[in-house]
Amino acid sequence: MQKRENFGSRFAVIMAMAGSAIGLGNIWRFPYMVGEGGGAAFIIIYLISTLVLSMPIFFSESIIGRSAQSGTIGAMEQLAPGSKWKWLGYITIISPLILVSYYSVVGGWSFEFMLKAFGLDFNGGSPDDVKLMFGNFISRDWAPLICHTIFIGLTCLIVLAGVRKGIEAFSKLTMPVLFILIVLIMFYSVSLPGSAEGLQYMLKPDFSKIDGRCITSAMGQSFFSLSLGVGTILTYSSFVKKDEDLLGSGLGTAFFDLIFAMLAGFAVMPAVFAAGIEPGAGPGLIFETLPYVFAKMGTGAPVLSAIAAILFFVAVFVAALTSSISMVQVGVSYLMEQKGLSKGKSVAVIFLGTWTLGVLCSLSFGRLGSFHILGCSIFDFCDKLVSNYLMAIGGLFFTLFVGWKMDPRKVREEFTGNGSRRINGIIYPTVRFLIRWVAPLGIIVIFLSNLFL
Ligand code: ALA
Repeated sequence: MQKRENFGSRFAVIMAMAGSAIGLGNIWRFPYMVGEGGGAAFIIIYLISTLVLSMPIFFSESIIGRSAQSGTIGAMEQLAPGSKWKWLGYITIISPLILVSYYSVVGGWSFEFMLKAFGLDFNGGSPDDVKLMFGNFISRDWAPLICHTIFIGLTCLIVLAGVRKGIEAFSKLTMPVLFILIVLIMFYSVSLPGSAEGLQYMLKPDFSKIDGRCITSAMGQSFFSLSLGVGTILTYSSFVKKDEDLLGSGLGTAFFDLIFAMLAGFAVMPAVFAAGIEPGAGPGLIFETLPYVFAKMGTGAPVLSAIAAILFFVAVFVAALTSSISMVQVGVSYLMEQKGLSKGKSVAVIFLGTWTLGVLCSLSFGRLGSFHILGCSIFDFCDKLVSNYLMAIGGLFFTLFVGWKMDPRKVREEFTGNGSRRINGIIYPTVRFLIRWVAPLGIIVIFLSNLFL
């Protein structure tokens, strides 16, 4: 077994975990999920899910990963040797790999739009032109496939370059740029004529919109956004030093993730209404809306608009990469630690598998469009399977493992950084209660109500 690297500081841990969490989930998926879920009411359920379901899962994964100092399967074999818990390890190897396969397709779209931004292709486009531009691109055979190949290829190359150099450097560099740009776009988008309706949509909840589907999607979105239940947080935590407490890194990561999602929502939704686009337009929403924003900006300030568009799509592309790196890392850690494969071979195996599934997902917007699984396109099926089911199942069992299987003393030690950090008296019992009761029961109730209602 090779010596494990460690993150240098608490800040480095949060930045790397935030790099894994913040990505297309915040910028691409959150706005369209809000659009499909009916606006502010969805956001409220999303916030509640994050607090009572996602945070306990986050802490559980951190506790397991840091305690075992290993990837998912290794962790299960170490903490519960010879037991059926190893199956939890297998689920959490499979899900991030399915996730990264279709994630890479959208990462490829962001690559294409980055090139379009460099080519000044958004100039003067009407909402219809932009919609056509996106529709024409995703339905072609080769262009989206080439972009997908570039995205997943680059992801794998970065993983090959090493945890610390590859991941830390990337997240530290690009996150602030992305943050500033989203804030700027948000202000511009809110100033567009017709945007007020979008703001109202984001702020004024219509509780009649809340149903089982909305609750499941909000829960799934929260899991997706924080990369939960798929072992990425677990794997990252295995690189966290023993004297770090896990509360700070968990809350810090969730805070940044939430801020990015909310800002992206407020940047996109007002523009959606200003452009007259349907909020429930689905996965293409930001690719149909933001180029329109840049085009509009370009009528008054062409240079500024071109620079903003270029920087934005470059930053989205990099944010997507930092997330996909963390998912590929789960599979690579498994192959290296459990199967004894070299790093090069492990990366090659993961590349081949994810690339192939990604090709099918990409073609489901074109040539394979009429092929459906349980009423969904291949892309939608993979997305729903992972975010609404596999992540929830992974999360459920992570909380059960930490809440009911692990030695409570060990759990406490890990959570508090071996007692090296003072954690306020009420915090630990609350977190433990959430891990043992609230999160598992919450997920089970949502599952059952989906099944029977
Ligand atoms: N958590 C990752 C994202 O939000 C998957 O993009």
